[in-house]
Order: sequence, then structure tokens, then C-alpha cells
Amino acid sequence: MSNVNHPEKSIELETIKLSEFIEEWEKSYLTRLEKKNQELRKFIDNKPYIIHADQKLVTRIFDNLMTNAIKFSDKGSKIDLSVKASNGLILISFKDYGPGMTDADKKRAFKMFQKLSAQPTDGESSHGLGLAIIKTLVEKLKGSITIESKLGQGTEFIISLPEERV
Ligand SMILES: Nc1ncnc2c1ncn2[C@@H]1O[C@H](COP(=O)(O)OP(=O)(O)OP(=O)(O)O)[C@@H](O)[C@H]1O
Ligand SMILES: [Mg+2]
Repeated sequence: MSNVNHPEKSIELETIKLSEFIEEWEKSYLTRLEKKNQELRKFIDNKPYIIHADQKLVTRIFDNLMTNAIKFSDKGSKIDLSVKASNGLILISFKDYGPGMTDADKKRAFKMFQKLSAQPTDGESSHGLGLAIIKTLVEKLKGSITIESKLGQGTEFIISLPEERV
């Protein structure tokens, strides 16, 4: 584990095996998924997807995308989490079958205090900050985040992070 100095906070870089990380991380969502009768489906090949990153930051990134998928989608819907590797990058996708986003929503999504077309479906809290925060975290980890969505057709957030070579 190494400690890279950063003006605001130090980032604790460590080797993270994504399959193992996800096994642990998803446990904290069992109750919330059950409450909305939603299902997390995972599409992760049996390959060693390894990143060199700060586990606390990765957790915050996963948490906001998962929380968004849960809260903006209807009860009974599915959420798909997939991980794959391509050209030295690990691509992590959170796809939901919720209300989707307009082009205007997509332009504003990563700015601060943006509450857009979609609203929580079960009284969950919404501050419009999560995506702005996690975009800066993804960039601290030398990655990027993009949105694929059409209104009425669900939303997919794709994070790409450098793959750690073993
Ligand atoms: N999966 C999604 N499907 C549809 N709209 C979404 C989705 N995720 C985010 N949005 C829209 O983007 C807005 C901003 O999302 P963001 O995560 O920044 O804030 P939030 O979830 O409202 O509050 P918080 O600060 O607690 O994360 C949301 O209010 C919502 O309108
Ligand atoms: Mg959020």
C-alpha cells in the first residue's frame, strides 16, 4: 500500500480485486433492494479484474451509482452491474431500467446541486450532489465516467479505470 500526497487528502492506493470487492460491497444493499423488490444482476466474468485505487473512493463511487439506480427506478425493477476489460481499461457499468435522462439532464448531471427529471420513487433523499462528487473521485483515480441514456429507456453509467497489470 502506498500513500500518494494530494493537496487536500492523501489517497491510499491498494490493489483491489474487483470480484472480491463487489462480493463484500453488495452485502450492504440486500435490505434496500428487498425493500423495493429490486434485483441486482451481476455480469462479471471469472477473470482477475484488478485496479490500483483507494478502496474508500471506489466504495463512494459504487455507492452513489447504486443508490441512484435504486432510488430513481420503480419497485420491482432490475439493476445490472457489469465489469469487463478493454485496451488496458476496466469498464464498470451500472445499468438501470428506470426513467432515463434527457439530453439536457445528461449535460447537467455532473454539476453541483442538480436535481433533474428523475425523482425518487419511494421518498428517498435527493441533494443533487452525488454525481458531482464521484466525478471528481473518478478523476482522482485517473479514470472517467460517462452516461448512456434516453428518456424512458433506463440509464447506464460507465466508469473506466486503468487496469492494474499483474
Ligand atoms: N440512474 C438514474 N436515472 C435517472 N436519473 C438519474 C439517475 N442518477 C441520477 N439521476 C438524476 O441526476 C440527478 C443528480 O444525481 P446525483 O446523484 O448527483 O444526486 P441525487 O441522487 O439527487 O442526490 P445525492 O446528492 O444524495 O446523490 C438526480 O437528482 C436525478 O434527477
Ligand atoms: Mg445520488
